[in-house]
Amino acid sequence: MDPLIIGLIVAGMLVLDLVAALWWARSMAKKHPEPLWDWDALEPELDQVVFPPDFRWGTATAAHQVEGGHTDNNWARWEREPDAKGKSRIQNGDLCGSAAEHWERFAEDIAAMRADLGVDTYRFSLSWSRIEPSPGAYDEAALAHYDAVIDACEAHGIEPMISLHHFSHPLWFEDLGSFEKVENIDYIVRFTETVYRRYGGRVRLWCTFNEPGPFSVMGWGLGVFPPGKKSPRVLGRVIRNLCAAHVQMVAAIKALPGGGDAQVGLVKNIFQMDPWQRWNPVHWLLCRVLDHVYNESILRFLRTGRVQIRIPFFVNIDEQLDGPRGDFAGLNYYANLLIDPLLPREPPFDAHSRPGQIMTDMPYTIYAEGLWRALHRLSEVGLPIYITENGIADATDDRRATWIRRYLYATKRAMDDGVDVRGFYYWSLMDNFEWAEGWAMQFGLYALNRETQERRLRAGAQPFVDTIARSRDP
Ligand code: BGC
Repeated sequence: MDPLIIGLIVAGMLVLDLVAALWWARSMAKKHPEPLWDWDALEPELDQVVFPPDFRWGTATAAHQVEGGHTDNNWARWEREPDAKGKSRIQNGDLCGSAAEHWERFAEDIAAMRADLGVDTYRFSLSWSRIEPSPGAYDEAALAHYDAVIDACEAHGIEPMISLHHFSHPLWFEDLGSFEKVENIDYIVRFTETVYRRYGGRVRLWCTFNEPGPFSVMGWGLGVFPPGKKSPRVLGRVIRNLCAAHVQMVAAIKALPGGGDAQVGLVKNIFQMDPWQRWNPVHWLLCRVLDHVYNESILRFLRTGRVQIRIPFFVNIDEQLDGPRGDFAGLNYYANLLIDPLLPREPPFDAHSRPGQIMTDMPYTIYAEGLWRALHRLSEVGLPIYITENGIADATDDRRATWIRRYLYATKRAMDDGVDVRGFYYWSLMDNFEWAEGWAMQFGLYALNRETQERRLRAGAQPFVDTIARSRDP
């Protein structure tokens, strides 16, 4: 055939493909709108928001981030050991060290959260490495410590919510291959049974895993959390095993005396993904793939029990997991990401923003519409929702009040739409060790002076305090 004709046919086919791709991007843009509310117009409404009287108000922390003194968990080693180039894995070479000394100061912290903030629930995680320093050996002093934490909560009218796994676990568990190996699930199930036997009679609210998405993607996809691997294949397996472990942990609690009364849930982080250019099929494609791995894999599991993870050329998991999936869904919401294939894949991340959006100290903006979207999406799971984390890194405290007012407004708006939200835990009670970002990010309602360990309530916390008070006494 005449080369000119062949050229014309190929060019014609390419044009058709391009038109089809643009058409697909257009239909995706219609199907998945990116709402942007007029915050100036909404301004007068923000201080009028009132929540139902039985809505639960809390703050949240995690053991490794606040307790201090951890030496034998996956994070303590990660902070100490430099990477292949001899550089610390933590921003500024920070170490968690004595953190906020919450191990020693929990009683004053719990008293203050009631007196200053008015909250009635506290979400904290148990330090597995302290409770079970070697496989099967439980440390009575560590178990007694959390009895005392629960006592302090009770003394101040605060309902505890316990997280069983919040990113950190014992070194021995890490060295056994942690969640890469299906047989290791038994260890966390045994830990769950042990602590439920101990505290179950006094604690009703339990979270199994904090954020299987970030925990696995950062640890096995991007390699910026321990164990620092970059393997899509292992990543897929870890997500699958976390889902399986969740089912077994819920079943274990339910089978124990009093377990029927426990409320158990998985904490899902929804990272709202939108394409940077809404007309661009490449941006949409990447957005869909990332959303599938990070969000949809866990959401589908929560909705149906089916774990389906497809990473082209690497992972093809499709498995139905039978068993209980929990009584509530926890939502951690922080960020939306405007996806563009050129975005950096390693810290320091540098994110896009839309005109007029305010950046936080983390590489994302204040986008409360994203929390509203995430609540609607999570409501498809069909379980009551607790917002188990939401808050801003704001060292200068000049955006915290805006964040709180907007995100509480978005929460109430979703509730008015019919989404069953039962409570809101602000992240975090005080500044704490922000994982790979070390001490650089300050999320606390209380500023922490690390030299003196003094806690100072930030002015930006006021709308949180006011909304709680207004909702109790409208
Ligand atoms: C984690 C917290 C973390 C927070 C702020 C959440 O993903 O559960 O441990 O400090 O985000 O980045």
